[in-house]
Amino acid sequence: MGRFRYHVFACTNKRDPAHPRGSCQARNSEEILSIFRAELKLANIPQPFRINKSGCLDACEEGPVFAVYPDGVYYRLTSLEDVRRVVKEHLQDGMIVADLQIPSPPAS
Ligand code: FES
Repeated sequence: MGRFRYHVFACTNKRDPAHPRGSCQARNSEEILSIFRAELKLANIPQPFRINKSGCLDACEEGPVFAVYPDGVYYRLTSLEDVRRVVKEHLQDGMIVADLQIPSPPAS
C-alpha cells in the first residue's frame, strides 16, 4: 500500500468563461471540495487518506472532476448526495460508484 489508502484529487482549474472546454471551477468545484472535506471529517474514516486540489484532469466537459487513487476512478460530483455516496460507497466500503463515474477516454 502507498502512503495513503485513498488519495482524492479535486480539479479546481479555472479558465476564461469563453473557453470552449469550460472549467471545473466554473462548475462549483471549490464548493463541492468544501463539502467533500466536511463529509470526510464526519465519516471519520480510520485508514489514511488525503484530498488535494489539482489542476486540470483532462475531463473538463464532465466537471467538476474528482479522481480517486490508487483506483484511478474519475467522478463527476455535483451535489451533497453525490459526495456522500462516494465517501460511503467508495472510500468506506471500497465499491466504485458506477453511475457517478466518468468513462475513460477510448484508447488511442
Ligand atoms: S478543468 Fe477540471 S478537468 Fe479540466
